[in-house]
Amino acid sequence: MDIRVTNQAEENVACDALVVGAAQKKAGQKAKGVVLSESAQVVDRLLGGLINEICAEGEFKGNLCELNTIHTMGKLAAKRVVLVGLGTLETVNPQALRRATATAARHLQHTGAHQIALALLWQGLQGAEGIGIDEAARAQVEGALLGLYSFKKYQHSDTNGNGRGVTKIELLSGSADQKPLHAAIERGTAFAEATNFARDLVNEPPNVLTPTELANRTSVMARQFGLECEILDRPQMQELGMGGLLAVAQGSAEPPKFIILRYRGAPHSTDKGMALVGKGITFDTGGISLKPAERMHEMKGDMAGAAAVIGAMQVIATLKPAINVTALVSSTENMPSGTAYRPGDILRIMNGKTIEIVNTDAEGRLVLADALSYASREGLSPMIDVATLTGGIVVALGSVMAGLFCNDEQLSNEIIVAGRAVGEKFWPMPLDDEYAEQIKSDVADIKQTGGRPASSVTAAKILEQFVGDAKWAHLDIAGTDFVDTKKPYQEKGATGIAVRTLAELALRRAL
Ligand code: BES
Ligand code: MN
Ligand code: ZN
Repeated sequence: MDIRVTNQAEENVACDALVVGAAQKKAGQKAKGVVLSESAQVVDRLLGGLINEICAEGEFKGNLCELNTIHTMGKLAAKRVVLVGLGTLETVNPQALRRATATAARHLQHTGAHQIALALLWQGLQGAEGIGIDEAARAQVEGALLGLYSFKKYQHSDTNGNGRGVTKIELLSGSADQKPLHAAIERGTAFAEATNFARDLVNEPPNVLTPTELANRTSVMARQFGLECEILDRPQMQELGMGGLLAVAQGSAEPPKFIILRYRGAPHSTDKGMALVGKGITFDTGGISLKPAERMHEMKGDMAGAAAVIGAMQVIATLKPAINVTALVSSTENMPSGTAYRPGDILRIMNGKTIEIVNTDAEGRLVLADALSYASREGLSPMIDVATLTGGIVVALGSVMAGLFCNDEQLSNEIIVAGRAVGEKFWPMPLDDEYAEQIKSDVADIKQTGGRPASSVTAAKILEQFVGDAKWAHLDIAGTDFVDTKKPYQEKGATGIAVRTLAELALRRAL
């Protein structure tokens, strides 16, 4: 994708479509109406008041992601102007800009545009909370690249996918200083491309994206972006005593992989840095405690946590913050077979603790237990694990917010704030010790599951056993990793959730 900044006036930008924004006047106010951005006003004048007329007729109301296309008939160098709604003026934030841009870009891709120009920069919209011009630029770049994403490589009739769609994006700067805009574009591009890389990993079918393939793609990325990459195979896992990962893997014909990525942005610091830990189950059948057939195919996405941490490492390697970060991914399939682990088995995790297995479908906590133990042995803190861990979090929070479990209030807030900045939502969940009652075992140190009540909390309580004295957060992204309903701003399928939050967090924590 060719992305650049231009200081050309709205009138002169030659492109297939110029996108301008408009917001709604205050919600609930009697005098309703549309507030045009500075660029929209300029375009309105060039078109002899057409935009104001469209708004006055009630044809366009400024709802978030609402679109209205106007053909310019030679009055501007742009062939079309797309007016995009930003929602109520007071609520316009970078996320609104991101979604509005994504919607417009997707629409344009589907309607034959190749070169588009974006003019949603904030300066023209008075009344809203200050959004920096660089923030607005970044949001637009992210929005466009995320909105244009599609996964069509296994379809022959590729009508709106790669090659034929949008190939050039110009960002109108007006009279603003271009330098911060270039940095903002670099950031936005890095964040969006890594998110799309993670989405590709999740969208790949499970016969293609095996643990071996996940490890291969990760090491290719690591080489390209200059990260250290180490892949541990079964014998090394045995040596380390990774009893959780090995037990889940023993039912599968595919060999497990433990993936380690290291980024040293602060080589002279005594701080070992933070750990990003991902659940990398490339397919979860449930094992001997087999899942029902109905939605089992969705369990190809059970490595979305792994994809998130790998994607975040790509951003970090691109933008090079002064901080040390290690990513750890436990990857295997969870399959039923004659060699599969069983309910009733007792496993020993890398840190020595034993777990009584009651349901082989609760495999995520087992593979994460080894990865967290590994992080603890390396002295990494904080640890942040990301996992499609429980159906319980889908019941609790649906596909809107991800669950956030954290043993440190400050870290919890940092994650929520970083998430808000990049358009990802996390909701704090409890780790109260009374929940640990549910995971007491008669035969081992702990029991693998705590039954149906608060199942996402008891899953987190298991993980807590393996973090030692590190600061730790657990993001349960089951429900937010995948969308199965069509959205105007987003392709069906993987969302790439948590890539941008983790990367943003690393950038904010840098020295
Ligand atoms: N991968 C699933 C959780 C999941 C469910 C992810 C729905 C995405 C959508 C996980 O391994 C699992 O099976 N969890 C079980 C645990 C239970 C058996 C204790 C669950 O939450 O139902
Ligand atoms: Mn499972
Ligand atoms: Zn699973």
